[in-house]
Amino acid sequence: MRPTLMMYSNPMKLALAPMEGLVDVHMRTLLTRSQAFDYCVTEFLRITNQLLPERVFTRLCPEALNGWQTPSGTPVHLQLLGNDPVAMADNACRGIELGAPVIDVNFGCPSKCVNNSMGGSILLKEPESLYRVLSAMRKAMPEGTPLTAKMRLGYEDKSRALENAQAVQAAGASMLCIHARTKVEGYKPPAHWEWIAKIKQDVNIPIMANGEIWTLEDYLNCQQASECDDIMLGRGAVATPDLALQIRQYQNAQAHDVQAWPDYLNDLLWMLRTTVDGGNIKFAADRIKQWLAFFKMQHVEASAFFEKAKRLKHHEEMEQLLIQEIALTPAATYHMVTQ
Ligand SMILES: Cc1cc2nc3c(=O)[nH]c(=O)nc-3n(C[C@H](O)[C@H](O)[C@H](O)COP(=O)(O)O)c2cc1C
Repeated sequence: MRPTLMMYSNPMKLALAPMEGLVDVHMRTLLTRSQAFDYCVTEFLRITNQLLPERVFTRLCPEALNGWQTPSGTPVHLQLLGNDPVAMADNACRGIELGAPVIDVNFGCPSKCVNNSMGGSILLKEPESLYRVLSAMRKAMPEGTPLTAKMRLGYEDKSRALENAQAVQAAGASMLCIHARTKVEGYKPPAHWEWIAKIKQDVNIPIMANGEIWTLEDYLNCQQASECDDIMLGRGAVATPDLALQIRQYQNAQAHDVQAWPDYLNDLLWMLRTTVDGGNIKFAADRIKQWLAFFKMQHVEASAFFEKAKRLKHHEEMEQLLIQEIALTPAATYHMVTQ
């Protein structure tokens, strides 16, 4: 019997995607505060051929010191990336000893550097590699801890998508999340959600759909095309921090509040201060600009603000600008959207 993710009893699960360099402990804290996500996933931990020390795990996932939960109580899964079955198994077991509730494996990373050392999406060229890595991990891990995988539809093309999903299932994984694009397709729209429905016909383990969900409407379209109830949100959750809440409230047939620009300004200020308090002083202003680049994709007000912020380098200047902007911006006006 493979362990399940039944600890998440929601009939339509929502997960916050792992995003290296973007969704760190602070972003996870902020994006899970509404409790709309069933779980989130760490940025990937790169495994070569060594057993990593405890401090590496806790640096990647400070929530390990809080029972692998964000402050709002949302579970955090540990993601590993690598191709050495023994090292992956050993590090999975260390993560579990440290309390990780679920181990996830990254077969989607498109980075040249990672792919050149045979990690991430390049393994999709050989479904046997997925099987080798996952089955070694599954054998070594305690029976009760779920092992999950996240993959793209392929590397150059989608010809081995079904075989890859079957390999994940055969190796004993409990769930597979599919980012509906190949490595070569990168992040270019569209995401090919209909491919997920094809794969679902061929495997029995739960499948979660991912890719290009920016709005409630995208979520509904993705569910329909992928025939998946369970969805992972990536950049859309960063661009619209209340997207998961909008979806959850829609599912519960509640009227839902849509956050407005003043709320997002307060989120930005919180992030700036939290990043500084966390000791990452040099990076704090850049992080706000990085986040604004995502806001700009979905919110017109963010473009004008980005113009004011883009040349600022110091966190004090950025803090002043945010405080001024908050003072100038009318208080949050929630749009009540009824169904
Ligand atoms: C900046 C960035 C970093 C990412 N890092 C990871 C990662 O560490 N692990 C992983 O499995 N996927 C990673 N991804 C892929 C996302 O988890 C997700 O699959 C992808 O962004 C597609 O979903 P979206 O269109 O909703 O953003 C990353 C994506 C981005 C944009």
